[in-house]
Amino acid sequence: MKTVLTKATPGNDITPLESANRALAREAVAEGIVLLANDGALPVAPCPLALFGAGAASTIKGGTGSGEVNERYSVSIEQGLVNAGFSITTDKWLRDYETLLEKKQEEFRKALARKMLTTSADDRINFMAEGFQYPYGRKIAEDDIKASEGACACIYVVARQAGESSDRNLDKFEYHLSQDEIDNLKTAASAFEKTILVINSGAPVDLSPIDEIGGINAVVFFCQQGMEGGNGFADIVTGAVSPSGCLGATWPLKYEDIPCAMEYSYLKGHTEFEEYKESIYVGYRYYDSFGVKPRYEFGYGLSYANFAIGYSDVKLDKTVVTTTVSITNTSSVHSGKKTVQLYVSAPGGKLRREAKGLAAFGKTDVLAPGESQNIDLVFDFREIAGYDESSSSYILEKGDYIISIGESSSKVLSAAVVTLDETVMTEVCSNICPIDRKLDEIVPVPNDTATQPSPMPSISLKMNASDIVTKEHNYDQPKTEADPKTDAVLKKLSLSDMLKVVNGTGIFDSKQFFRVPGAAAHTTSHLLKHGVPDVALCDGPAGLRLQRTSVRYKNGKLKPVDTALRLHDSIPGLVKKSMYGNVEKGTPLYQYASAFPVGTALAQTWNAGLIERIGKAISAEMVEYGVTFWLAPGMNIQRNPLCGRNFEYYSEDPLLTGKVAAAITRGIQSNAGCYATIKHYAANNQETNRNKSNSIMSERTLREIYLKGFRIAVEEGGAKSVMTSYNKINSVYTPNSYDLCTKALRCEWGFDGVVMTDWFSTGETLANNGLAIKAGNDLIMPGGRGYIKMLKKDMKDGRCTIDDLRLCTARVLKSALESRIVKEM
Ligand code: BGC
Repeated sequence: MKTVLTKATPGNDITPLESANRALAREAVAEGIVLLANDGALPVAPCPLALFGAGAASTIKGGTGSGEVNERYSVSIEQGLVNAGFSITTDKWLRDYETLLEKKQEEFRKALARKMLTTSADDRINFMAEGFQYPYGRKIAEDDIKASEGACACIYVVARQAGESSDRNLDKFEYHLSQDEIDNLKTAASAFEKTILVINSGAPVDLSPIDEIGGINAVVFFCQQGMEGGNGFADIVTGAVSPSGCLGATWPLKYEDIPCAMEYSYLKGHTEFEEYKESIYVGYRYYDSFGVKPRYEFGYGLSYANFAIGYSDVKLDKTVVTTTVSITNTSSVHSGKKTVQLYVSAPGGKLRREAKGLAAFGKTDVLAPGESQNIDLVFDFREIAGYDESSSSYILEKGDYIISIGESSSKVLSAAVVTLDETVMTEVCSNICPIDRKLDEIVPVPNDTATQPSPMPSISLKMNASDIVTKEHNYDQPKTEADPKTDAVLKKLSLSDMLKVVNGTGIFDSKQFFRVPGAAAHTTSHLLKHGVPDVALCDGPAGLRLQRTSVRYKNGKLKPVDTALRLHDSIPGLVKKSMYGNVEKGTPLYQYASAFPVGTALAQTWNAGLIERIGKAISAEMVEYGVTFWLAPGMNIQRNPLCGRNFEYYSEDPLLTGKVAAAITRGIQSNAGCYATIKHYAANNQETNRNKSNSIMSERTLREIYLKGFRIAVEEGGAKSVMTSYNKINSVYTPNSYDLCTKALRCEWGFDGVVMTDWFSTGETLANNGLAIKAGNDLIMPGGRGYIKMLKKDMKDGRCTIDDLRLCTARVLKSALESRIVKEM
């Protein structure tokens, strides 16, 4: 068996795959944009338009760090509007902005380079700290207004950037609007008949100033939308597509309204540990249960069309509820899609439950004016059981469960009450991740009126405890599924071979790193002689993170031309000039990946079918370029809007998160031998000091909020790969947690794939390599000689046994042997 050389090609023409993926990306953009406010200003037919703001011409397509995608080109908001037939009256302001942006980026590169020199080896992974922030742009001048005489409207695009290794700074207008932006919005609102505010950010920004500014006619959460952002935006502005996106996370009235707001990350004065005092009350679970009014609630989103939602039937089959919901487009002009959401309010008992939790959702097709559609919303009561630590079991307590349906977490109508006659255990587990200190969790006031749905439902159903069979788990060390091919190779391997298999080859292995140019790493090529391929692992989640252009020299050597590391290319010691090639001196090779909307934007479509198609589209590119593991989806819970990587994640709600992750996973894995890697497992909810911070929470919170989405992605999506996180949970680094990597993941959820570490997350002062292998974290990434040495020593010191090593080796081997790439070797 021989390693497959790069599949990048000298041809530089747009391929049919690229074109098809662009069309799909544009469809997703238009579905993921959320219309937050509109007094009728939107839609607007093509006309002369005043366009301002940081994201107008330099639209941010996604966050920074490993979530970057290097596509052929991206369509800015300005370009999208021009393509749709608008003429832009503010060219001068926009070109001035581009000059300013270039200057600021150059200053940032230099500052970063200086910082890098003083960063310790274990903390290099945090070198991106304090991400680049887009300038706000100059003040709108009288000349800009004069040039815009006759403009039919003004669109002002506020942009915010965030990314890996640092959380958004509350004091630096990363969450708030700056004074310059507020002043500009005031100017625009008084000068133009219609002013539309657009937010180009991966997470909420504070919109409280607009209450005072007045004269803002519409607000659009554009989010960060990948390569077709501008075109999809224009589809919404012109009304070619009616908005149907709904928020996956609550926008508070003000930052301080968020639970434990000032204790988040660096705000409490240190980042050593993070106490999850809000327990299960994350996002709308908090606002609803504590009676706090948000600005825009979870699930909220306007349309140009109007819809009537009703229910025609609610059926209960043992524990499975099917609610048939009818949706009618009652508007006379606009067509559109509508999302419907089903929530359950569980009775209080031994466990205090949230006011309501999302249990199912669905979306219509495009409905023409007057058209109706029925949708069945289905869920199983066992999926909404609460976790009782004292009996280490999931329980459904006796009492009334109220099912409500509606269009957001605040706008619901109660549809049925299901009464359970006795408390039952739905699942008996073993306790995991014990907390090592006292945690003062917040609790809502009992009988809070906010928890009472109204009016009371008209349908009453009975659920019998005797119909519910309690699930029991077997916690014996799981074996890799008996697999003769894997066993045959395994038998031949020496200790030194096995150590290589459970380690990647590092990021600077020149033989491999550029074989799939831009790959985050590869598995070992040491076993090619045994028929085991070296496979490539590439980032996501907005697409494939690949090197766009490389060059092959006459001697066969391959070098990258453009850098996937972008802003970091001037960092001394990390990327050397000599690592880059010159297209003039060899054959240029190209590979263009599609940049789809970021995770947050995809989730805002609430359209699992569309998301699965995006998974398939990315999978087609994996096959095209020879990638085996996609290092995505990112599916941490959006616990606080300041988290630097929220843009990569889906939602504050575990069910929505899990369903979206399961959908994209199914799409990715629709090509046998391509794997989705669900990450970062788990509770990686802040970025500052990400590789050392300690997430402290009760087991109930961990299971109900932070693990639930991962469980859905494994059980419903069939995820074949998991990436552990950098942080600790209750003082144990996640790669070292047997409870997480084996007990929950494999014994309870039946996972049978590979668990890998996040990049450089093990080391002297970090998670331990030997303990990772013992825990069932099979693959140490990116690996390399230094890591193999550390692991050898850990084995000597008794941190893991040869049997532990063999088990992890078998799992990595099995994945590699079943990789899609094998067919081509
Ligand atoms: C990120 C991961 C990513 C990995 C490989 C890390 O810094 O946390 O999400 O997959 O790098 O690029």
